[in-house]
Amino acid sequence: MVVQSANAAEQLFKNHDLAFCDRKCPLALTARDYNKGSLAMGQYGSYWRFLRRLCTMELLVNKRINEMAPLRRKCVDAMLRRIEDEQGAVNLAQCVFLMSFNLIGNLVFSRDLLDSQGEEGKEFFDAMGKISELVGKPNIADSIPLLKCLDPQGVKRGMNENLGKVMKIVGRFVNERAEEQKTGMKRVTNCKDFLDVLLEFEGQGKQEPDKISDHNINIILLEMFMAGSETTSSTIEWAMSELLRSPMSMHKAKEELDAVVGPNRKVEESDIDDLPYLQAVVKETLRLHPAVPLLLPRNALEDTKYMEYHIPKGTQVYVNVWAIGRDPESWDEPLCFKPDRFIGSNIDFKGQNFALLPFGSGRRICVGISLAQCLVHLALASLLHTFDWNLVPDQALDMSERVGVSLRKLVPLEATPNQRLNISY
Ligand code: HEM
Repeated sequence: MVVQSANAAEQLFKNHDLAFCDRKCPLALTARDYNKGSLAMGQYGSYWRFLRRLCTMELLVNKRINEMAPLRRKCVDAMLRRIEDEQGAVNLAQCVFLMSFNLIGNLVFSRDLLDSQGEEGKEFFDAMGKISELVGKPNIADSIPLLKCLDPQGVKRGMNENLGKVMKIVGRFVNERAEEQKTGMKRVTNCKDFLDVLLEFEGQGKQEPDKISDHNINIILLEMFMAGSETTSSTIEWAMSELLRSPMSMHKAKEELDAVVGPNRKVEESDIDDLPYLQAVVKETLRLHPAVPLLLPRNALEDTKYMEYHIPKGTQVYVNVWAIGRDPESWDEPLCFKPDRFIGSNIDFKGQNFALLPFGSGRRICVGISLAQCLVHLALASLLHTFDWNLVPDQALDMSERVGVSLRKLVPLEATPNQRLNISY
């Protein structure tokens, strides 16, 4: 079943959220029992509820997100420095991806995975890229269950191999940290990261496991990279691409930054509330280019009567938020990039406005929404405030999409920066 309109999405999330809050797991994510330890693929039940609570309270609740602001600053500044050091056109897509990937590394392991000299960071990064490709690849074995054991496109085999690589690397980080904890060795930072939380966890009561197994710890950590890095970085890349195509919107965004922040300092997260046009740019980008265009597949938990249809238990459900964001029933001139449509409107993307659902809605709404919101706004504002951007001469801006689980630009964005500020990063 595919939900394609704001009205149908409203009926689903308001009246039947419980009936559709289970997941249908693609074959690719059954490799190495990924689905059994995962939050995003978890079946609706006590393990999922426990994990969702833990991730929310320990990593993604607003208080923790505020405490981690210096890490976002550090990763965004490193990205701006990298851009400053480049000569001529920069591969903006790559710079932004490295920034968000390293941010997740800092949140979960307190490490800059890609600045380390060792090969490990690069190996991890490459294997994660392959995993993301494999998960996004349409797999015939998902439609014809008889083919599952044959795995005709080799998707599960590829996943086994690449998940094996990344789990080995994560496993080493986990063991090192477990040793540190045993020997009482103090790390340079006193701040607990997510890995500490997972290792120190002791369950209380029937609804929680006593400990989280090593296998599941690896999966939970990996999932943060899978769910959090490409989604945020491709949103920033799409926003920059749209602004480069729309000089008027680019001008308004920079004018606002000049008025609120001025030329003598960096943009801070505390400025974001005073930057309504920037916020409108982000909403408009998420409307046209939602990073997860069909949400993650749901599964009907029971026979359900939905909008006069009989939906049998076990039906796979997609919510096509890409189509809903472009539906002329909901939006004027739906294919035009017009951030101004959000000025003075109270529509947002938190799951209550059913024409704009880039993070989903209901019980399975994205658990990283607040983190994504902080990072996307800070990184985008910093890119616009620090540099003037131009397209590479003689290179047309290609806006084609590459379809997978996440929606990326087919041709990564390259652009030429010119320093606007006299601040050093
Ligand atoms: C712009 C950035 C992001 C977008 C557009 C996005 C979008 C989504 C969407 C559409 C879903 C599925 C919701 C549903 O089925 O209703 C989801 C789930 C999820 N997201 Fe995000 N996400 C983003 C960033 C993040 C970040 C930064 C993290 C964490 C580090 C994260 C972690 C998760 C997890 C763990 C789930 C699974 C939740 C569950 O099934 O209970 N996401 N996200």
